[in-house]
Amino acid sequence: MDRRRFLMASAKLLAVTAAARSVAACGDAGGNGAGGGGAGGDSPDAETSGPDAALDRDPTEVFTLGLASGDPRPDAVILWTRVDRARTPDAPATIPVRYEVATDADFTDTVASGEATVDAEGDDTLRLKIEGLSPYTVYFYRFSALGARSITGRTKTAPAPDQDVPVKLAFASCQDFNGRYYHAWAWLAAQGPEAVDFVLFLGDYIYETDADPRFQATTPDRAVVIPEGIDLDPASGAKAARTLGDYRSVYRTYRSDADLQAVHALFPFVNIWDDHEFADDAWQDHSTHFNEAQGDERDTARRQAANRAWFEYTPADPAYRAGASFPDDLRIYRSLRFGRHAELFLMDHRSYRADHLVPEGPENTAVGKFGPNSTLGSRNFVLKEGFDPLEAGARPSLLGEAQRTWLQEAVPASNATWKLLGNSTQMAQMLIDLSGFPAVPSMYRKSFYFSCDQWDGYRSERAAVLSALIAAGVTNLVSFAGDIHAFFAAELQLDFDAPAEPVAVEYTCAGISSSSVQEITQRTVDGSEVLSALGLGALVPQMDAILTQTNPGYRYIKAQANGLGLATIDAAEVRVRLVHVPDVTMKTAGEPTIVECVTRAGSNRVELV
Ligand SMILES: [Fe+2]
Repeated sequence: MDRRRFLMASAKLLAVTAAARSVAACGDAGGNGAGGGGAGGDSPDAETSGPDAALDRDPTEVFTLGLASGDPRPDAVILWTRVDRARTPDAPATIPVRYEVATDADFTDTVASGEATVDAEGDDTLRLKIEGLSPYTVYFYRFSALGARSITGRTKTAPAPDQDVPVKLAFASCQDFNGRYYHAWAWLAAQGPEAVDFVLFLGDYIYETDADPRFQATTPDRAVVIPEGIDLDPASGAKAARTLGDYRSVYRTYRSDADLQAVHALFPFVNIWDDHEFADDAWQDHSTHFNEAQGDERDTARRQAANRAWFEYTPADPAYRAGASFPDDLRIYRSLRFGRHAELFLMDHRSYRADHLVPEGPENTAVGKFGPNSTLGSRNFVLKEGFDPLEAGARPSLLGEAQRTWLQEAVPASNATWKLLGNSTQMAQMLIDLSGFPAVPSMYRKSFYFSCDQWDGYRSERAAVLSALIAAGVTNLVSFAGDIHAFFAAELQLDFDAPAEPVAVEYTCAGISSSSVQEITQRTVDGSEVLSALGLGALVPQMDAILTQTNPGYRYIKAQANGLGLATIDAAEVRVRLVHVPDVTMKTAGEPTIVECVTRAGSNRVELV
């Protein structure tokens, strides 16, 4: 046994005794499963025995994707990095990685350190759960491997449940990389390390497609590499990720962005997925890209590849179970507590949901589908008067039984001032009422659900969940949502068709960079002879006004927007700033516009400030 192997073995031995106290490896029970990395413990001779004593290499040659932290708890946080072996031809199959965690940026007060390993099994990604930390405390961390030391990351633990401190978070979703820039992240990083305690990311961290002509336009410097993939569109050559290698490649592309790396280095993230971490408008292990024109789109192996890549590249606490089949391979619904005033309940809208109720393919005039395989798919622009009775009969579930039971038990059990829901898709009803537009043909002069991929498609369960929470005495319920690529601030109803006193509020963020809902709608209408002939093209720029008139619960709407939200939460209020950034297809960012709202405790109202 040579010296290095001996020291590694010693470190692993130390880990056995130190693990319970300070450090635990994440992943499956073996510790070094997919993306796990093996963790060592406190290493007494850190200065001389690390994996590489010199550490004189440029860190950007080794830590090409930077570093990240996530799922902060009062006593623990997840740390993440990836070692890039591409520029180290003689790198060993198993690469030792030293980690250090300190209360100061100079690492004079180190609270945890040790050695872990990465290998090809986990795509050379490392995630460590550092335990035994103090609540509401800033920590600094760094890694070293292959002769390089990473930059220093900063993270912060959650306040203890009895700590009376404000909670500051950013909420964001939908960061399409293709031809688009992350001005919102650049803006957040520029606000400095005290800007927020953590970032809540509500899904579409990646898009599985490289140039979907419906909403993506790639540029040479913002292109995504999908090595194998599924051919989506022979005309454009667009592809969708299919294999584990594809999804890993997509994550590497997204995480290469300097602005995204900067926010990861400053703040812990709390992530859930939406559809595009697997496939557009996905349900369980089914994609819907071809409207089933090519047959059933179930692909369990693809779904498992997507889940495994999410686990490898996301600094989140849920454990990946390498031997288990979807959906038991990865359960991401969970809660996190942030001091006296906030508890966050994070949902998974994709893994357990029933199929969209309107079947793909056939004409279905009852729900406004006047031709087979509409370009809108079966889920968008669905006639309300036809859909509602169908839905009331079928009562499809968005959450699945186990998750719904968990939510309905966990939220009422919380004694936090504010109960925060992490919804990947929005709860607020989003109707488009065209009855007041004489230029629109009479059969379209009705109310349509904009998207039944949101909670609107599962409206019975939405009513049941909200009713159960309110009946259990839950107050101060605030939903944060993404997915729809627009800013909304809304008051939520038990029955949106018979508005009474609102029971909760919802703040929905526009995409960091993705095509706005108005852009996508305009492109869809303009690309369809049928829809254009109906005169809908001229209505799209009026989306904000139409939605405001149709949906009385919306207090603020911006359908043509990119950006993120900030929320400050204390005993008295939730104060939200919606940060609208200018054109994300331009490389240079302009100054953002900020809209401020407040929800006061006990009010269930959104006030524009
Ligand atoms: Fe999205």
